[in-house]
Parts: sequence; C-alpha cells; structure tokens
Amino acid sequence: MPVITFANTKGGAGKTTAALILATELARQGSRVTILDADPQHWISHWHEISGKIANIDVISSVSLASIQGHINENRAKTDYFIIDLAGARNTLMASAIGLSDHVMIPIQGCAMDAKGGAQVLELLCHLREKAGIHIAHSVALTRVNSLVTTRALQVVKQLLAQRSVHVLETPIVERSAFRDIFDCGGTLQTMDATRVSNLDKARDNARAFADEVRRLVPARALATLRRAA
Ligand SMILES: Nc1ncnc2c1ncn2[C@@H]1O[C@H](COP(=O)(O)OP(=O)(O)OP(=O)(O)O)[C@@H](O)[C@H]1O
Ligand SMILES: [Mg+2]
Repeated sequence: MPVITFANTKGGAGKTTAALILATELARQGSRVTILDADPQHWISHWHEISGKIANIDVISSVSLASIQGHINENRAKTDYFIIDLAGARNTLMASAIGLSDHVMIPIQGCAMDAKGGAQVLELLCHLREKAGIHIAHSVALTRVNSLVTTRALQVVKQLLAQRSVHVLETPIVERSAFRDIFDCGGTLQTMDATRVSNLDKARDNARAFADEVRRLVPARALATLRRAA
C-alpha cells in the first residue's frame, strides 16, 4: 500500500490535478485508492461530493498533522495506493506527509517559479537523507505541458533538473481542458461526454500513460510483499 505524495510549495503547480488524474486512472485499472485531501482548497473533496460513488476511490477530507498517520494506519487493509494532495505551502504537514511517503511526486510546470517551489521539496528530501538517513524516492512530473511546442522555459527547467540528476517522469501531464473540466462536472475521464470536451481521447491516453509509468515506479504489491517480509 504505497503512499504517493504530490508536493510543490508553489501554489498552482498542478498538484491537485495530477493527484486526481493518477487516482482516477489507478482506480479505473482496478486498484483501491484512498486520497488524503490535505489541500486547504479541498478541490478533490468537492469533486468527490459532486461525483457520487466512484468505484475504488475513497477521499478523506480533513487531514491534519495530528491525524495523517492514523488515516494511513486505519485504511491500510483496504487500500492499494494512498495519494496525498498537499497545500502549495511549506509547512509541518508537508514534512510529515513526505516522511510517510514511499514516493514523492513534484509537479512542475515549465517555469522558474514552479521550479523554485519544487526545489524546496527537493531540499527537504535531501535534508532527510543527509541528516536522518531517510531516503525517499521522488520524481518530477512535468505538468500543463503544451502538446504542440516545447517552450524555452520548459527546456531550461529540464536542463536544470538533469544537472541536479533529478528523476523526471517520461510522461508529462499535458494541458487539456478535460483535466480542468473534471473538477466542474465530477465523475471520471471515462464518464465525461466526448462531444462536449475537446481531445478527451488524448486526455484519457495521457492519464493511462502517466498511471502506467507511476505503477512501474511504485508497484503496489511488490512493496506490500517487501514490507511483510521485513
Ligand atoms: N494538465 C492540465 N491541463 C489543464 N489545466 C490544468 C492542468 N494542470 C493544472 N491545470 C489548472 O491549473 C490550475 C492550478 O492547478 P492545480 O489546482 O492542480 O494546482 P495545485 O498545485 O494543486 O495548486 P495549489 O497549490 O493552489 O493547491 C487549475 O486551474 C487547474 O485547472
Ligand atoms: Mg491543490
């Protein structure tokens, strides 16, 4: 039951969107997903309220520093993946969630401000490794990427990450209206109306490729087996 946390101290980097796209796709593929909604704007909780019951997805809305560990312990037996959506801020809840994670995803749009917010998360991960010997796997997920052109800003961000040997997911999350509209209509990319949402098929393919890559990086069962053996 791996814990995957989306973190970037910069607001608007695409954490909530990436977390929901991953959660709904993993659930569609049959994994049981519990989302811990620690974003004070509660977009995912709102999405869950308007969606009604979505197979394989549970959302926990009130997540605090005091409760986060308990939510994970209590739901472990019925969860294949925990996904934590954090606030766009540097706070103790972020540090605690990162400490509980098997993998930290750092969404970054191709811009310097997002990269700076991502760098603060990378610094914390580095600090945990050097001072406490705790190594937490992590990757950058490029978000809101233009499907047609690679911008100069994105190239600069990619170069910076390569220089620092930061792992970047091969599958970026592309800028798609479906990834915005899902929060307004509720449901999933599968239940959306393709006649109303442009390029819905491409958004679905993108979500599938993203979740497949995350699943390869963070396999649900292998980790659970390792833990039982330990
Ligand atoms: N791939 C995408 N395609 C289209 N729009 C996107 C995409 N990713 C994010 N957005 C839009 O960008 C804005 C910010 O995204 P989001 O809320 O996911 O960021 P966040 O990092 O969770 O922000 P916060 O730090 O405030 O919680 C939202 O309006 C969202 O709809
Ligand atoms: Mg958010």
